[in-house]
Parts: sequence; structure tokens; C-alpha cells
Amino acid sequence: MTIEEIIKKYSNKLDRLDLELILAHSLGKTREFVLVHQDYEIQTVKIENLKFKISQRIKGKPIAYITGHKEFYGLDFIVNKNTLVPRPETEMLVENVLHFIQDTRYKIQDTRIVDVGTGSGNIIISLAKNAKNFKFQISNFKFYGIDISAEALKVAKKNARLHGVEKKIKFLQGNLLEPFLRNIKPSVTSHHSLIITANLPYLSKEIYQSAPIDVKKYEPKSALYSAEGGLAHYHELLLQLKTSHVPCSMFHVSCFLEISPEQKNPLSKIIKNIFPTAKISFEKDLAGKWRVCKIEIQ
Ligand SMILES: C[S@@+](CC[C@H](N)C(=O)[O-])C[C@H]1O[C@@H](n2cnc3c(N)ncnc32)[C@H](O)[C@@H]1O
Repeated sequence: MTIEEIIKKYSNKLDRLDLELILAHSLGKTREFVLVHQDYEIQTVKIENLKFKISQRIKGKPIAYITGHKEFYGLDFIVNKNTLVPRPETEMLVENVLHFIQDTRYKIQDTRIVDVGTGSGNIIISLAKNAKNFKFQISNFKFYGIDISAEALKVAKKNARLHGVEKKIKFLQGNLLEPFLRNIKPSVTSHHSLIITANLPYLSKEIYQSAPIDVKKYEPKSALYSAEGGLAHYHELLLQLKTSHVPCSMFHVSCFLEISPEQKNPLSKIIKNIFPTAKISFEKDLAGKWRVCKIEIQ
């Protein structure tokens, strides 16, 4: 069978782009190749596997889990069933952190950037890759990626190797900030800055229940759902920070949290209860929905 014949056979059952991506992946070629070489004869040994992948997609399996890859912030990331598929809206969180560091008011050179709930490592790897553009010495930045899932961390480490930043990022397993805070020496001074990024599970019970079947069937629930209207993880993270042996007064702490739009007010309340003097702001995504919460704790 040729590429053209496959496309003809399945084009009424599957999105054209998905078909092209599956073809490219199965043939070990680029999507451009698939587009240009429609008369390419597919080897018989490859046909069964190709049809199997197409049938998985028809049943709703996300394309990224079929190809094992997803693009995020212009980089290619390996994903599998243990990691969430990185979402385009999360690129905004990376943008916000990069702008924050590039900001002329940002003068602190000794900075630790900690990504909590790192999953495939998409956020921290994108930050570490773009760190070469920071106006400060990159040696003054330390990067950490934390996840509770050992399986997700295996993928994150592979991705760090793929992008040549494995030496820059320390990956730690544990509950939220705990593995990072445990290792911090109380000798840090106010010249240190801690930037926390987190795209933790934040879907409330109701939103999780109404999520598309593809999401519920294939993506890990532990990466999506959180109690307390979706805010239990962020609540606990802020409490860890507050009660840690490392007082926030020793660090300039800035947190960047991805949220669901309706969480703006309830999250603000939680933050004010724990850090009454914190500076809180929110950013909207391209669709005009509140997406990133920025907290500055002095
Ligand atoms: C919404 S996913 C985000 C993954 C990735 N940062 C991204 O943007 O695609 C949330 C991640 O948080 C991790 N996670 C869930 N509970 C956690 C906890 N208590 N401590 C650390 N990580 C946790 C999950 O394993 C999952 O990888």
C-alpha cells in the first residue's frame, strides 16, 4: 500500500494531521516526507503496526502516546503513560519565568529554580535550555525537577539527556517541595533567590469528571486531579514553604503556578492566609482565561 492509499482508506475516520503524524512516526520519516511522497510504497511488515496505531487513535488514544513524543516550547519531549502530555497553555508559565528573570529589576544572581510536579520535565528543561540567554552567569543558576512518580522522573531524565541539560538539572523524587527543602542548608543568605514553578494536579472533582474520555482513559489521574476544588496540592506546597526550616525571609521566593481560571479567587484566599504580605498577580492565557498565578514572598 502507498501513503496515499492509507490516507484515502482512513481519512473519513481520522483527522488528516493525525494520520500524517502516525504515518511519519511508523515509517521513521518526517511529516514533510509523508506530504511530498504520497506514492511511497509502505513495506508489508510495517503495515500491520501502522494499522494498529491508527486503530488506537480512532479509539481515542492521544497522538502523543502513540508516537511517544510531544513538542513543547519548540523542543521535542518523550512522553509515555506515566507522564502527562505537555499542554500548549503551559508554555505561558515558561514565558512568564523567563520574562521575570530577564527583567531589569531582577538582580539576584544566585538562583535556584525548582519545578514541582515535573512530569516529562518539559518546564524545567525548557528553562534550562533557554538559560543560556539569561543575562547572568548560568553557573549561578541551579535547576531542580521534583516528582512523586519515579516512572515520570525516568522520562524527565531521558528528556534532559536528549536536550543536553542532564548535568544542569537535579531530579528528586518526593512529595512536593519536601525533597528540595530537606537538602537546603540554613546558611543561605538573602542574596539567594528561589523560583518555584508548578503545574501540579489542579482539576477539581467536577472538572475531572467532565474531562474528555481520552484524558480520563489514558492520562494518569494522579497528574490531573486534586482535592479542595483542585487546590489541595498548591495549598500543601505553600504550607511546606511556610513551615520549612528555611525561613522565607532568607530567600527571595517567587512562585509561578498554573491554574484553572475559576481558581483565581479561592487560591488568592489560601495564599493570603498563609503569606499575608505576599504580592499576588495573575496572568491570562491567549484565550483570555486566568492561567498563571505569580506569588512573590519577601
Ligand atoms: C499536571 S502534571 C504536570 C506535568 C508537567 N509539569 C507538565 O507541565 O506537563 C502534574 C505532575 O505532578 C506530579 N505530582 C502529583 N502529585 C505530586 C506530589 N504530591 N508531589 C510531587 N509531584 C506530584 C504528577 O506525577 C505529575 O507528573
